[in-house]
Amino acid sequence: MLIHNIGELAVVPPGPLRGAAMRSTTTMADAAVAIEDGRIAWFGPRRVLPQRDWGPALDAEGGTVIPGLIDCHTHIPFVGSRSHEFVRRLAGETYLSIMQSGGGIRVTTEAVRRATQEQLVAESLPRLGRMLASGVTTCECKSGYGLTPEDELKQLRAIRDLCGGQPIELIPTFLGAHALPAEFEGRVEAFIDGISDEALLSTIAGERLARFCDVFCDRGAFDVAQARRVLERGLRHGLRPKLHADELAQIGATRLAGELGAISADHLEHIDDGGIAALAAAGTIAVVLPGTSFFLGIPHADARRMIGAGLAVALATDCNPGSSVIGSLPLIMNIACCQLRMLPVEALAACTANAAAAVGEAHRVGAIGPGFDADLVALDAPSLAEWMYTPGRSRVRTVIKRGRVVWP
Ligand code: NIG
Ligand code: FE
Repeated sequence: MLIHNIGELAVVPPGPLRGAAMRSTTTMADAAVAIEDGRIAWFGPRRVLPQRDWGPALDAEGGTVIPGLIDCHTHIPFVGSRSHEFVRRLAGETYLSIMQSGGGIRVTTEAVRRATQEQLVAESLPRLGRMLASGVTTCECKSGYGLTPEDELKQLRAIRDLCGGQPIELIPTFLGAHALPAEFEGRVEAFIDGISDEALLSTIAGERLARFCDVFCDRGAFDVAQARRVLERGLRHGLRPKLHADELAQIGATRLAGELGAISADHLEHIDDGGIAALAAAGTIAVVLPGTSFFLGIPHADARRMIGAGLAVALATDCNPGSSVIGSLPLIMNIACCQLRMLPVEALAACTANAAAAVGEAHRVGAIGPGFDADLVALDAPSLAEWMYTPGRSRVRTVIKRGRVVWP
């Protein structure tokens, strides 16, 4: 396939892009991209396109073409709604106080435990369909609403089923230590041991049901020692650590992420200098989730400070039924620009090259280069600036996954 008449090609280099390198994407006017066997075979100015039969042509109509977006932190699959909690928060309660009164993650856990694997798949398909229409071609998906070995496996197997049922490539993460379920109240250590036991981790590794192991390490969730235990056990089964860190309070979670060589530390609203230094030393990707701070009405993570300190910042939706019921990565990029003062070029790097690095796939996706998967999005906007300048307006014209038009 040949994509031609590209008004502006955003040539994102392979991730991770750290600090000022997040602004190193170049733009190429009047460009073309040639695709062979699902990969980018050539890109450049149209006037120097090698003359041969590239197959069917796709006219980008003078719009911008970017690498497919990568949502590197979501809690899909889940079922049910917590809109009643949303209203309680608007009326003055907090996410933490609702969680401590028995609401929050436990409510979704009850719904997920009641649901079958097929129901988890069925409720997730429309969500993924909307993400595809917004330009997402790769998406990380977490378990974490089962909180028993069987129900966690059910969620991970639902992710596996979803891989075959729609075009977005899904990357699974095991988040067994997401919250303490009601039946373990007062017995945290027993829960931690059960959710990270040999049999469960062997099954997950054996069936390749997850690539990463994540823990919610925060006030009201699990402490650093408990998180370390789970993540070290996961590591022994080949699951690289990720961490929900510094979202609600500063308890040292980001330093743990650095110490364990986590692939990413996510949230970071309360990151401190020690945490930033730990991520820099370990090369850990800083995943910022401004949809969550927007949705919860809490201060945003200081992405400018992290970029200034030389970190590779990624952005994601955190799509989940409680703290960020947002499935639109373009909206997240808009919030990052308008509220976190990230530049459009940085927001794009954060949702492509750096998001790819946060899921261990930066050698293959998230960039424009020969040999990279031909995951591309054609926009009806003439430039990145024009795209980010118009929040709330869908400007995705065509989505291509591995060289195939998958939307519309
Ligand atoms: O990333 N912080 C922990 N977990 C999710 C929220 C999950 C939920 O509320 O259902 C998050 O924000
Ligand atoms: Fe999350």
